[in-house]
Amino acid sequence: MSTTPIPELITHKGFRMIKGIHFPHEVDQIRDLELRDSDVFVATFPKSGTIWMQQILLLLKCKGNKDSICKKDTLNNGDLVPWIEGPEKVQDFVKAEHPRYYVTHLPYHLIPQELSRRRGKVIYVARNPKDVLVSYYHFHKSLLVLETPKSFDEFFDKFMRGDVMAGSWFEHIKTWFSHKDDINMLFLTYEEMIQDLQIVVKKIAEFLGADLTQDQLNSVVKHSTFRNMRQDPHANYEKTDGVLINQQAGCFLRKGTIGDWKNHFTVAQSERFNEVFKQEMKDFPVSFIWDI
Ligand code: A3P
Repeated sequence: MSTTPIPELITHKGFRMIKGIHFPHEVDQIRDLELRDSDVFVATFPKSGTIWMQQILLLLKCKGNKDSICKKDTLNNGDLVPWIEGPEKVQDFVKAEHPRYYVTHLPYHLIPQELSRRRGKVIYVARNPKDVLVSYYHFHKSLLVLETPKSFDEFFDKFMRGDVMAGSWFEHIKTWFSHKDDINMLFLTYEEMIQDLQIVVKKIAEFLGADLTQDQLNSVVKHSTFRNMRQDPHANYEKTDGVLINQQAGCFLRKGTIGDWKNHFTVAQSERFNEVFKQEMKDFPVSFIWDI
């Protein structure tokens, strides 16, 4: 297991990022990337369904048959649908085969500007932030480059201050929300994916103009369920064990449910969260399913 010290978080243009993994000059280059109409970005705040969308996009690309797309040396889905803000990813993006599918945790003002000129497509996935907080808390225990929280209470405060990788959840969604009706943007929620994956996959396929038969769409849905992703070595990131993740402490595919925050938040924390949410989101009418 890695014994290197945990890198610090630094803020660049409103994006809280990991020093030594994210570089300000690389992040700045992303804005000016030239896009093609076939480029697709998935934007999320961490823990909102990023790797779920990686799996769905890959499966749509290969019409439900992932074996045809995963090469022998493919470690994870992240090799095929990478984060654009990772090291040297800008150069890779320029050279990558088309269509290019990427994910990002960047706020809207740092993504390729051509997206706002309707070149390329973007899917934003939002998740109810109480569950995001809980998922992120557990993820901090397993991801080797993030500091293990001393306690849930300490992490709760950090999240509320925006002192986590990617920054404030509230600021992040606000930068994206006003673009949700752009013609080249699809706004989804994690909760609608949980409630009816079939419908959401169809919606994504239509948005991307992906031409799949019903059987192929069914295969995409089948291989994107929580249970099947847990068994898929590319989707579950098991090959990063000891490098990026300590799998004994946790994993990407932890629980996959709505409402786990109720097992973690105190009544006082929930009330405080509701108050901040009400205040911060008063001009942003996004509604979430908080539990089922
Ligand atoms: P939990 O920690 O609540 O289980 P990200 O990919 O953005 O890091 O998000 C990870 C979260 O998405 C985890 O939430 C993970 O379990 C959940 N997730 C990933 N794939 C999923 C799936 N197929 N079904 C339900 N949840 C999924």
